[in-house]
Amino acid sequence: MEISPQENPIELFKKWMAEAYKTEPVDPDAMSLATVGKDGKPSVRMVLLKRVDENGFCFYTNLESRKGGELTNNPNVALCFHWKSQTRQVRVEGTAAQMPAPMVDAYFKSRHYLSRLGAWASQQSRPLSSRKELEDRVAEFEKKFEGGEVPRPPHWVGFCVTPQKIEFWQEGKGRLHDRFLFSRGDNDNWTLSRLNP
Ligand SMILES: Cc1cc2nc3c(=O)[nH]c(=O)nc-3n(C[C@H](O)[C@H](O)[C@H](O)COP(=O)(O)O)c2cc1C
Repeated sequence: MEISPQENPIELFKKWMAEAYKTEPVDPDAMSLATVGKDGKPSVRMVLLKRVDENGFCFYTNLESRKGGELTNNPNVALCFHWKSQTRQVRVEGTAAQMPAPMVDAYFKSRHYLSRLGAWASQQSRPLSSRKELEDRVAEFEKKFEGGEVPRPPHWVGFCVTPQKIEFWQEGKGRLHDRFLFSRGDNDNWTLSRLNP
């Protein structure tokens, strides 16, 4: 496999993503998101990539969740996509920043009614005594917003990761895989290097 040094890694990512959409049976847009806690220890979980463009790799979450707190304290993150059906992996390293509120509002409006209620009901990452407690909270917010719009909770936010490094990995025969690393320079140009598998 070859990649031209002139290739733009965001465009290449979009191409790989589009190919994954054709073959990946569930959630081709799922990515692992690694953050760092105040104690310097990493934590990782899956989130869904909701857009990728010049703003970076964007996802939505609860600002008061564990990841929300960690991102606020330390914006350094790593992302990883694995498309089994394509035998491909993409790794991204960069810094996360909150998306402008109007963008988050627009996406929140497009979400399913129950997902919008859930955004109010779930105190993401905090202890929950029972399933019933959560269901009661959903019912409470359903009543509160009855007959009207479900507004976006202030803690429901979007983050975009500005990439500094993007690595494309394609499985090769005999485990002689191809690895291409794009690194962003000071003037935003990308440098391509090939890595050993
Ligand atoms: C496939 C998949 C997609 C997910 N997408 C999201 C997402 O987009 N946003 C989110 O907040 N949590 C998402 N989750 C749940 C997270 O993995 C995680 O459980 C939750 O955000 C709490 O993480 P935290 O306690 O580290 O903050 C997803 C889980 C899976 C398995």
